[in-house]
Amino acid sequence: MNDATRQWREWQRTPWGRLHYTQANANLARHLPPAPATVLDLAGGDGADALRPVRAGHRVTVVDRSAEMLADAEHAFAEAGLPVRLVHADLADLPVRGPFDVVLAHNVIQYLPDPASALRTALTLVAPGGLLSVIALNRHSEPLRRATMDLDPAAALAALDTDQARTRTFDTTLTLHTADQVVEWLDGCVLLGHYGINAVTGYVADNDRKHDPAFFADLERLELALADRMPHPMPARFFHLVFRRGNPGDGGPGLS
Ligand SMILES: C[S@@+](CC[C@H](N)C(=O)[O-])C[C@H]1O[C@@H](n2cnc3c(N)ncnc32)[C@H](O)[C@@H]1O
Repeated sequence: MNDATRQWREWQRTPWGRLHYTQANANLARHLPPAPATVLDLAGGDGADALRPVRAGHRVTVVDRSAEMLADAEHAFAEAGLPVRLVHADLADLPVRGPFDVVLAHNVIQYLPDPASALRTALTLVAPGGLLSVIALNRHSEPLRRATMDLDPAAALAALDTDQARTRTFDTTLTLHTADQVVEWLDGCVLLGHYGINAVTGYVADNDRKHDPAFFADLERLELALADRMPHPMPARFFHLVFRRGNPGDGGPGLS
C-alpha cells in the first residue's frame, strides 16, 4: 500500500473523516430519487460514498483510476455483502455509458487539469432530470484553515491570493475552487442545494476533543444543522452542490 492510500484510510477513520461522509450522504439523501436508481460515482475511490446509496437499494457503479482504491472498495462491499460495479478507468477516457439517474463527482475536481470540462462530460452521463453532485475543497476555507489550524496568519494572508494548496494526504499540489465557479461552469443546470461540509469541525484545532464521543456527537448535530444555513456553507472546508440536469426543451448545457 502506498503512503497516500494509507493516509487516506487514516483520514477516513478519524471522527472528522467519518463526519464528512455522514454529511455528504445526509445532503444527497434530500435529493435522491426513490430506489432503485442508477448512480455513477466518478473517482469514487474506495467506495466510501457509495456504501450508503447501495444499502438504500440504489445500483451503483464506482469508477476510479487507482487499482488500490478499487481493491479497497471491492473488499468493503464484499464484507458488507452488498453489490457494486467497479470500473478501473481514468475520467479522461471513460468506458461507461449513461444515462445514470445520479452522477457523483466528490473530492476529485481539485486534482484535475480541466475540472470544468470534466464536470461537463460528467453531465452528459446524467439522464435528463437526473442529478449531478459535486463536492470539493473550498478555496474560501484555506485562509481560515491556515490561520486557525496551522496558527500561521502569514500563510493565511498569502492563501487569499492563490488557488494552489498542498494536500498532506496525497502529498501533491491541488487547485482550490469555489462553489460559485462550479455553478458558473454548469450554467443552465438547476442548483437544487448548496451545502457546507465541515463548517466548524475543519477549524477546531483540538483533535483530542474530537475523539470524545459526547463532544463529537454535539459537533455532528451542529454540522448537520449548519449545512444549508447561509452564510455558514460559504467558509466550510468543503462545498457540496447538487444540480438537476435540464430536461429537453429547458435550454442550457444540460441538453448536450
Ligand atoms: C480524494 S479521493 C476521493 C475519493 C471519493 N470520491 C471520496 O470522496 O471518498 C480522489 C480519488 O480520485 C481518483 N482520481 C483522481 N484523478 C482521477 C482521474 N483522472 N480519473 C479517475 N480517478 C481519478 C483517485 O484515484 C482517488 O481515488
